[in-house]
Amino acid sequence: MVVVAVVFLVYLTNPASSQPQTNILILACSMANVTNSRDFYSNLNQTFVNIRSQLSNNTYFATAELTRNSVPVYVMAQCRNYMSTRDCLGCFDFAASSIRACAAANGARLVLDGCFLRYESSYFYTDTTARGYQGLCGNRISSGQSVFETAVDGLLSNLSIATSKINGFYAAATTLVVGTNTSTAYAIAQCAETISPDGCRNCLQVAYKNVMNCATDVIDGRAVDTGCFMRYSGTSFFRNTQTTDIAPFLRDRETSGSSSNKGAIIGGVVGGVGGLIILLTVVLLWYRRSKRTAPGNLYGATELQGPKDYIYSDLKKATKNFREENKLGEGGFGDVYKGVVKDGNIIAVKRLTIGSNTAKDNFESEVRVISNVHHRNLIRLLGCCSKGPELLLVLEYMANGSLEKYLYGEKQGSLNWKQRYDIIFGTAKGLAYLHEQYHVTIIHRDIKPSNILLDNDFQPKIADFGLARLLPEDQTHTSTRFAGTLGYAAPEYAIHKQLSEKVDTYSFGIVVLEIVSGKRCTDVQNESAGDQILLEHAWNLYETRMHLKLVDENLDPSNYKEEDIKKVIEIALMCTQSPVSMRPTMSKVVMLLNNQSRVQNLPSRQNVNLGVIRIDMNNSISTTKSMSNADATMTAITGR
Ligand SMILES: *[C@@H]1O[C@H](CO)[C@@H](O)[C@H](O)[C@H]1NC(C)=O
Ligand SMILES: *[C@@H]1O[C@H](CO)[C@@H](O)[C@H](O)[C@H]1NC(C)=O
Ligand SMILES: *[C@@H]1O[C@H](CO)[C@@H](O)[C@H](O)[C@H]1NC(C)=O
Ligand SMILES: *[C@@H]1O[C@H](CO)[C@@H](O)[C@H](O)[C@H]1NC(C)=O
Ligand SMILES: *[C@@H]1O[C@H](CO)[C@@H](O)[C@H](O)[C@H]1NC(C)=O
Repeated sequence: MVVVAVVFLVYLTNPASSQPQTNILILACSMANVTNSRDFYSNLNQTFVNIRSQLSNNTYFATAELTRNSVPVYVMAQCRNYMSTRDCLGCFDFAASSIRACAAANGARLVLDGCFLRYESSYFYTDTTARGYQGLCGNRISSGQSVFETAVDGLLSNLSIATSKINGFYAAATTLVVGTNTSTAYAIAQCAETISPDGCRNCLQVAYKNVMNCATDVIDGRAVDTGCFMRYSGTSFFRNTQTTDIAPFLRDRETSGSSSNKGAIIGGVVGGVGGLIILLTVVLLWYRRSKRTAPGNLYGATELQGPKDYIYSDLKKATKNFREENKLGEGGFGDVYKGVVKDGNIIAVKRLTIGSNTAKDNFESEVRVISNVHHRNLIRLLGCCSKGPELLLVLEYMANGSLEKYLYGEKQGSLNWKQRYDIIFGTAKGLAYLHEQYHVTIIHRDIKPSNILLDNDFQPKIADFGLARLLPEDQTHTSTRFAGTLGYAAPEYAIHKQLSEKVDTYSFGIVVLEIVSGKRCTDVQNESAGDQILLEHAWNLYETRMHLKLVDENLDPSNYKEEDIKKVIEIALMCTQSPVSMRPTMSKVVMLLNNQSRVQNLPSRQNVNLGVIRIDMNNSISTTKSMSNADATMTAITGR
C-alpha cells in the first residue's frame, strides 16, 4: 500500500550566506505520524548526529539508521560533490532544522540545490525512481534559445549515460554554447550511492527526460527523483575546475552490459569506502530482491504525487453544474465555485477564462510549476482538468473567505489587532517565498484584499499566484486586464508595464495601510484637505508624526502597542516608495516585521517623482507631466 503523502512547505529563512545553496526544491512530509514521538525524535537526533559526522569527514553521501526501539528511523543525506565540506555541512544543518517542519511525520524529504535529506520509518536506500516527479523549471527567458537547448540536451544526455559508470555516481560537466553570443552551459548529475548502476542509469534517464521539458525557454532546470538529481544552468553554480572528465565513460557505450556494470560498482565501492560497505551492499541487494514481491512497497511514504487530474464531469457535479449559489467570487482569471467531491471534501474550482491555444499549450507545464508551490501562506493547487470543454483549476477551499469581507464586507471591523498583524506577517512570508525562495520567481501582480484568503485560524493564504504565468509574455504586457488592480498597482507597472518583484511590494504596502485603517485605498480620506486618497493621507499624517490617526477606530486601543502599529505603518510606507530600489524586498519586510527593534531607515517620499496618474471611469490610464520634486505626488484617482 502506498501512503499518499501530504506535501507542504513552511516558510524557511535562508541563512545569510547563499553558499550552502539552500534554495528549496521540494519538502514533503508523510501524512502518517509516528506513534511514539519521544523515541522517534531521539532516534532522529542521534542519526542526524551520525550523518553529520560522516559528512564532516570528506564524504558527500551518508546513511544512518536506528532500528532498536518501536520507531525505526532510516536516514539518507547527500551533498552535491562541488560543495566544500563547510558548505555541505551548512546545507545539511539547514536541511536538518528545516525538516523538523514535518514534526512527527513518519517520513520526510527535503531537496535543496546543495544537498538533500530524507528519512523514513522503513528501508528505502535502494529506491530509484517513482511516478509523479517532473522537471523543476526555472525562470523563463526570451525565446531564440535553440542553440542553448541543443547544447544542454547533449550535455545532459552525456551525463545521464556516464554518471552511473563513475565511482561515487556524480559528474559535473560544461559545454560551450556557440551562437551569436557564445556562453557556457553547466550541468551535474548525481545518484544516491546505495542504488545499483542500473538503477542510477534508469533514474537519470527519467530525470533527463523531465528536465528537458524545461530547456526550451528556461535558463535553468532541475530534475529530482527518488534516487537521483540533475541540474543545468546557463550560469555557473560550480567552479570550472570542478568538472569531471566524462569522455572515457561515453566511449564504451555499446559494450557496457549490465554484468560489467555490476563489476564497476563493486570496484568503485571497494575503492571508495571500504569492505564493510560491500557487505552492506550485498545485504541491501538481497533485501531489495526480497522486497520486489511487493512492488507497491518499494516507494517511501513521501513520494510526490504531482497535481491530480480531475475529470470534468466530476467537477461539474461537485459544483452543481457551476450553479450561481456555489459561486465564491470572481477573479481576474475566472470565476471560482465551491464544490463538494465524492469523498465529502470541499474544494474550490476555478474556471479559467484564458482560452487561447498558447495558453492551453502552456497549461500543463505551468500547472506543474504552481502545484509544486507549497507554503502555508499560499493557496494549494490540488489539481486541474484540461481535458474538458474548458480549463479548470482545483484549489484548496477557505471557509472564512477573503480579507475583503473582513475589511469592507459583512464582517467589517471584526478583526482584532493580533489577527490583523498575523495577516500582514503571513502575507509577507507568502510573497517572500514566491519571490525569493521558490526555484522560480513568481510575481503575483495583483495583491489585494480579495486575493488574500483566511483559514479557520485567520491565517492568510494568498490566492491567484502564478496564473499570470499561464499567459504568453506579450499578452501580459499589453492587456490592461492584467495590469493589476487600480489603487494597488505600482505606478511604474500601471504606466510603463515595468514588472519586478517590487510591484508586489508596493501592493502589499497599500494592503497593509488598508488593514491598519480599515479604509479602502481608493476612497477619499479627507474632504477638507482635497482629494486625498489613503496613501497620500497616510504620508501626510506620517510626515507630521500623526500616523496613529490612521488606525481603524474599530480597534480597541488596549489591544495594541502604539509603537507596534507605528512601525507597521512605516513599513507599509516604505513599501510604497519610488523608485523601486527604495522599496524593500519581501524577505526584508519579513525581517523588519519580525525584528523587535524600530525601523532604521525611515521611509521618505522625497524621491517620489512619477507624475500624477489619472484614471478615468473607463479605467484607462493617462499621466500628466512630472511635477516638481517638492509636490511630487502619489497615485491620484479622479472621476469615480
Ligand atoms: C500529525 O501530527 C501533527 C502535529 O504533530 C498534527 O497536526 C497532524 O494532524 C497529525 N496527523 C495525523 C494524520 O494524525
Ligand atoms: C532533538 O533535537 C531537536 C533540535 O535539535 C531538539 O529540539 C529536541 O529536543 C531533540 N529531541 C530529543 C528527544 O533529543
Ligand atoms: C573518516 O574517513 C576515513 C577514511 O576516509 C576513515 O578511516 C575514518 O574512520 C573516518 N572517520 C570517521 C570519524 O568517520
Ligand atoms: C557528448 O559526448 C560526445 C561523445 O564524447 C561528444 O562528442 C559531445 O561533444 C558531447 N556533447 C556535449 C554537449 O558535451
Ligand atoms: C549579445 O550580447 C549583447 C551584449 O552583451 C546583447 O546586447 C545582445 O542582445 C546579445 N545577443 C543575443 C542574441 O543574445
